[in-house]
Amino acid sequence: MATGHTTHDDEALDRELAGLLSVERFDPPAEFRASATLNDPSVYAEADRDWQGWWASQAEKLHWFKKWDQVLDDSNPPFYKWFVGGKLNISYNCVDRHVEAGNGGRVAYHWHGEEGDERDITYADLHRDVQRFANALKDLGIKKGDVVGIYIGMIPEVAVAMLACARIGAVHNVVFGGFSAESVRERMEFSEAKALITVDGAARKGKIAAVKESVDAVMGDLPHLEHIIVVKAKGTECQMKDGRDVWFHEIMERAAPECPAEEMDAEDPLFVLYTSGSTAKPKGILHTTGGYLTGASATHRLVFDVKPESDVYWCCADVGWITGHSYIVYGPLSNGVTSVMWEGAPDYPHKGIWWELVERYKATIFYTAPTAIRACIKWGSEHPGKFDLSSLRLLGTVGEPINPKAWLWYHKVIGGGRCPIVDTWWQTETGAIMITPLPGITSTKPGSATQPFPGISVDVVDEREGKPIDEGQGLLVIKRPWPSMLRTLYKDDDRFVEVYWKKFGKETYLVGDAARRDKDGYYWVIGRIDDVVNVSGHRLSTAEVESAIVACESVAEAAVIGQHDEDTGQAITAFVTLQGDRQGTPEEEDLIRAGVAERIGKFARPKRIIFADDLPKTRSGKIMRRLLRDIAEGRALGDVTTLRDPTVMAALEEKIKAEHAAED
Ligand code: WTA
Repeated sequence: MATGHTTHDDEALDRELAGLLSVERFDPPAEFRASATLNDPSVYAEADRDWQGWWASQAEKLHWFKKWDQVLDDSNPPFYKWFVGGKLNISYNCVDRHVEAGNGGRVAYHWHGEEGDERDITYADLHRDVQRFANALKDLGIKKGDVVGIYIGMIPEVAVAMLACARIGAVHNVVFGGFSAESVRERMEFSEAKALITVDGAARKGKIAAVKESVDAVMGDLPHLEHIIVVKAKGTECQMKDGRDVWFHEIMERAAPECPAEEMDAEDPLFVLYTSGSTAKPKGILHTTGGYLTGASATHRLVFDVKPESDVYWCCADVGWITGHSYIVYGPLSNGVTSVMWEGAPDYPHKGIWWELVERYKATIFYTAPTAIRACIKWGSEHPGKFDLSSLRLLGTVGEPINPKAWLWYHKVIGGGRCPIVDTWWQTETGAIMITPLPGITSTKPGSATQPFPGISVDVVDEREGKPIDEGQGLLVIKRPWPSMLRTLYKDDDRFVEVYWKKFGKETYLVGDAARRDKDGYYWVIGRIDDVVNVSGHRLSTAEVESAIVACESVAEAAVIGQHDEDTGQAITAFVTLQGDRQGTPEEEDLIRAGVAERIGKFARPKRIIFADDLPKTRSGKIMRRLLRDIAEGRALGDVTTLRDPTVMAALEEKIKAEHAAED
């Protein structure tokens, strides 16, 4: 039975959505509220009264080999420690615990491959595979504290690999499958990884990418990288280097079946995940064991109101991002929930594949990014209209602000008007959701992430002095430590302090986003204040893209800005000057895009490239991006008197005019 819309009533749908734009608040449906785990607003006040006690009560829901002596050690800010003295193991919490409770037969992942192949992985399967792989890692000489890279993509082995590392105390460093091999090499080098787990090939919309071959082409001889473990995922031909490369299935066969979970200290590192900051060098965000799992698990349980016995939960992110770490792997597994894991893209083999899978697995909870929702809107509501989405009871979004129109479409077309939507604001650094509705309590306003999660304290402050702004726009800050906070930047404590804790003192975390608080105390996150661009929910630094462009052969200089984009939220515009007195050609544009794809990944390719003879610079030689933003967006130019050569701007204006003329 299909419950959605068909093409001919799209106009009626548009009218209905336009009508809903004037609705200010959406209350939790009575039925949802009645069965929600949290449905009494007093939880906020309670958590505030004793926030450390609140977090301790969340940590108590996990299994600890030894309980902590102290909830929070805040004696040396910003280097906070949580659950000091506590001992636990994350893979034990995510797997063994459920098997011991008699739930080994429950499906952990309904995995669905691009070509329609399916695998159901139970908790008992994970228990078996994680132990074996943990032993296989040990057999290779991997020890507690060693860094292990993971570049696998969306197949179940990625969860096995992460959990096996956690089991023996190895620190995983997962790289998103959309990053190029070059980026993988850089991340392995920065983190001094001892092993890398990868695949022979990966599915990419009907084609197979030769992943191992690309890795081989760039990996060279990294001094620390002793092993490359290859999962035979697609049967893609590849070379195996003697003494370095091993097959996953072969070392699994040889490994002993039982591997007791290592007792880890609450503050032992769990993973490093590289993300973009203001400079070209990505930041290695370091998360530890006890606090991270407490945050990921509690937020997953309460924000998504999960009922492990009956829910089928689906987070459509990629495991290579923090959303995948916290809400595909650690949150859902720690709560013993059944998830859907989809290998591919939302539009292959057809534009309704997500909805087909919702129907097939009777998904009840669905979590995605606004950019994906906007793409679905563009493809038309006839795609979801073909499938039965009546199993859904809760929807979520993450990654960027959601525009009210997309929110309403999601609410109506996917949620059938009956599902609450949780717009969740957080970051790689925060480890877990920070600002969000609680679906059985909070009245939502489309476009607002609403309120901080219980126990979290945030504020909006003015840029200069850090004074709170009651109503209106300012910088978002977090005022209390929280368990799943990053502990440092990998091997770079100074940069950690400098980036997050310098502006307003060591007890105020600078988020890097601008936000507004409205008269009801609701938070509206506006966007980044630094040189970080958010393209389809993928975080990129302008400096990183600039250095990839400058590395292209004929390029002399580049300046990159983020521009608003209807589909992807922001898109990258690059101003490029070439070497010699040459004008750029379409071929040169292609070469630049290919260069960026090779050095970072396809998702980082500039949408717009503007060739210029020169870039606007101050007398000290600093590129004035503000002027580039003005000119790219057709705004009147501000003050240009500080420019070394003011005629540069006139020349650029001519260029942009010519570009527009060519488009018309
Ligand atoms: C943005 C992704 C508005 C924000 C989990 C943040 C959001 C950055 C939202 C972190 C949201 C994430 N509303 N903006 N609900 N969620 N952001 O580290 O700018 O990849 O700082 O983590 O995404 O991106 P990251």
